[in-house]
Amino acid sequence: MNLNETLENLRVSYQSSSLDLADCDPDPVAQFDKWLDQAISSKCDEPNAFVLSTSTENRPRARVVLLKGIHEQKFVFYTNYGSSKANELAKNENVSMTFLWLPLQRQIRIEGTVTKVSAELSEEYFQKRPRGSQLGAIASPQSQRVAGRAELENLFKETESKYEGVEVLPRPSFWGGYMIAPSFLEFWQGRNNRMHDRICYERKGLSWDRYRLAP
Ligand SMILES: Cc1cc2nc3c(=O)[nH]c(=O)nc-3n(C[C@H](O)[C@H](O)[C@H](O)COP(=O)(O)O)c2cc1C
Repeated sequence: MNLNETLENLRVSYQSSSLDLADCDPDPVAQFDKWLDQAISSKCDEPNAFVLSTSTENRPRARVVLLKGIHEQKFVFYTNYGSSKANELAKNENVSMTFLWLPLQRQIRIEGTVTKVSAELSEEYFQKRPRGSQLGAIASPQSQRVAGRAELENLFKETESKYEGVEVLPRPSFWGGYMIAPSFLEFWQGRNNRMHDRICYERKGLSWDRYRLAP
């Protein structure tokens, strides 16, 4: 069988669960918490990983980052403020997030606007990270071209020696968090015969409109 035939024949039947409007919490972030909890306890790999999509100058771009908190109903992730994504976020605050939890046959799409978190929150989280991750964040000029692996290894070693004996590493000003305030969320539950459940929340002033979409 060639690869295209294999792809055409790959098919999974989704029938593990269902989602109805009446089952959904009126607060979409509470509904998100419930599904994330279930993804964590079902041992989904990297349940906090999501695809972050940006769009500038007619060029959509996407990459995976990790959800590291939910503060004041906003979704928080951390990155390098000099990275490509940071440049894109500075030009266009409108983003989307996509979580995929295959063992649960679930997807969540979120759209919203991004702002930087406070320096205090970034500092607090930076100090909770393992030392190796802190050194990596300090050493790596994220999204810049490098000559080769050796250059990266040298950058890491230089940073390691610079901070030898320093117990508390300083958070670099170019590293910190963003938070996404949601304006639209869609909870997708796979069902039999491609008749999937799609329950959406759309922000209307201070409340949320809730409705079902056809799969
Ligand atoms: C599972 C996974 C988790 C990741 N988590 C993060 C993260 O939390 N923050 C981050 O900056 N990059 C993370 N990355 C790397 C990004 O996908 C991306 O390569 C990097 O942020 C540079 O993206 P940019 O050039 O668009 O700025 C992760 C990648 C994977 C596969």
